[in-house]
Amino acid sequence: MLLITGAAGFIGHALTNVLATLGEEIIGIDNLNDYYDPALKWARLADAGVDRATVELHGEAVSRRFPRYRFRKVGLEDRAGINQLFTDFKITKVCNLAAQAGVRYSLTNPLAYVDSNVTGFVNILENCRQHQVEHLVYASSSSVYGLNDKVPFAESDPVEQPASLYAATKRSNELLAHTYSHLYGLPTTGLRFFTVYGPWGRPDMAYSLFSDAMLNGRSIKVFNHGEMSRDFTYVADIVEGVKRVLLQPLPLRPGVPNRVYNIGNGSPVSLLTFIETMEEHLGIRAEKEYLGMQPGDVEKTFADTSALEQDYGYRAATDLSTGIKVFVDWYREYYRYTS
Ligand SMILES: NC(=O)c1ccc[n+]([C@@H]2O[C@H](COP(=O)([O-])OP(=O)(O)OC[C@H]3O[C@@H](n4cnc5c(N)ncnc54)[C@H](O)[C@@H]3O)[C@@H](O)[C@H]2O)c1
Repeated sequence: MLLITGAAGFIGHALTNVLATLGEEIIGIDNLNDYYDPALKWARLADAGVDRATVELHGEAVSRRFPRYRFRKVGLEDRAGINQLFTDFKITKVCNLAAQAGVRYSLTNPLAYVDSNVTGFVNILENCRQHQVEHLVYASSSSVYGLNDKVPFAESDPVEQPASLYAATKRSNELLAHTYSHLYGLPTTGLRFFTVYGPWGRPDMAYSLFSDAMLNGRSIKVFNHGEMSRDFTYVADIVEGVKRVLLQPLPLRPGVPNRVYNIGNGSPVSLLTFIETMEEHLGIRAEKEYLGMQPGDVEKTFADTSALEQDYGYRAATDLSTGIKVFVDWYREYYRYTS
């Protein structure tokens, strides 16, 4: 059985639907915290056939859409709850996507990151060790490249300059995973995701904030006066990469069974081009408020994806305009904008 943590989240929901459609046996968990509107998390679960009333009454539910998918409400930092999960189910593989995400929030709520991303992650590692899990795949982030100048970012680059607590906890996941691979032979693979966007996307991310402001006639905040670029990656491309890493055999290589891969589009887009693409698909011209750089932010991200391509035969391919159109259509529908 496959454990997916963060199953009510943006990427977790998309991954769960794809793997459940393939008939995989899945236990999904999430604590449904209120970092952003939990209604969106419940709506994603409902889309995957998970009934809210049943979860609220019994703490878990079997999906009505996918009979081999069961969801349980539990937090990573709940040590007894996570131990119980691994006792109740024969978990053979784990995909850890649950985390306190977001760079800016880590400036004001650092301990939320320690609870979920450090304590919670170690709970997962410990259970993987004790229950001889075959493979732990976990979400890392492009933010580990921090203040690095050299582009594109490659897995072999030094990652010693995190620019935020969020980034530091993601890097700590990679170090902790390495330790468990080294000491106990636990196969671990960290995936450094690059700015993920698409339907069911996170309301705290720029594309949602921009859509909300533009559709409601407010100005959008353009940080660093627009002098930023991001390697925007469409959610289905991320999911395809994660799926391959989870389902394909581990690439054979001598030494510690510990790996890290970038998953990104490999073609950075400037923030202003990104905004233009949104304007085009929303059919609205944005009023822009140019501001300075935000603390914790980085100017650019750009993934070198050759390692994933070599080991898993995959590279992300969805172009920005295609992906933004799907996002905007979903956004209008979900938030019921009629025009
Ligand atoms: N979206 C991106 O652009 C991006 C980029 C890089 C890395 N990531 C990483 O990918 C993963 C998924 O991100 P996402 O965009 O889907 O975020 P998300 O916030 O939508 O999903 C995370 C889910 O985990 C749950 N969660 C948080 N803390 C938990 C805990 N302690 N116990 C149980 N559940 C908990 C949340 O309720 C949420 O539903 C995260 O690890 C994130 O750091 C995302």
